[in-house]
Amino acid sequence: MLGLNIGKNANTPIERAEDDYIACLEGVYPWADYITVNISSPNTKNLRDLQQDTALDRLLERLKNSQRQLILRFEKTVPLFLKIAPDLDDTQIEQIARQVRHQGFDGVIATNTTLNRTAVAQDPNAHEAGGLSGGPLREQANHVVTTLRKSLGPEFPIIGVGGVLNGSDAQSKLAAGADLVQLYTGLIYRGPPLVAESVRATRSA
Ligand SMILES: Cc1cc2nc3c(=O)[nH]c(=O)nc-3n(C[C@H](O)[C@H](O)[C@H](O)COP(=O)(O)O)c2cc1C
Repeated sequence: MLGLNIGKNANTPIERAEDDYIACLEGVYPWADYITVNISSPNTKNLRDLQQDTALDRLLERLKNSQRQLILRFEKTVPLFLKIAPDLDDTQIEQIARQVRHQGFDGVIATNTTLNRTAVAQDPNAHEAGGLSGGPLREQANHVVTTLRKSLGPEFPIIGVGGVLNGSDAQSKLAAGADLVQLYTGLIYRGPPLVAESVRATRSA
């Protein structure tokens, strides 16, 4: 299963972001089993502005139109997942949920890294720039999954990610409402056995 992640270039003005996403979508489409539309990296200036109402609606609509053409051209349907930030309030999350449903997106991935430093406030490096991943992100990311699940209903696909460092963390994603689990930072601390542990834990959940 190969998921490919698309975003805009750092030096593309935000007003022209859509063109980058469309170019990337067309480029990766033949190779991907699913495609992640990343509008939530905190490291690309203004990228998260794309999560706002009108900008998001326009972007999702263009991507869905392009996907329809690509389905015909390549005779295969590659699902599109929208990847969102953890730094959203419940109203924003509900709004995004409405938009992904309305535009017929195939699923949501929650979440990317956080700008919130509350969970590491005592750490001497807490004020460094960039997105924070791993354990301190887990509860915040799980809350986004729970809020999405409430808004999207039981059938809509959600991938939970953020702070999975052991099997029980993976289980907590399913408990929050995710259908599937991704992990990244945990691999640094636990290596590939974390994947087997997470599979065992979620299977018995
Ligand atoms: C160094 C680093 C680079 C990342 N690059 C991307 C990226 O290019 N696109 C993306 O959607 N998410 C990116 N992420 C976010 C991760 O995919 C993941 O959503 C986040 O780290 C939370 O999961 P984790 O706690 O298991 O790491 C990156 C995270 C880190 C730490």
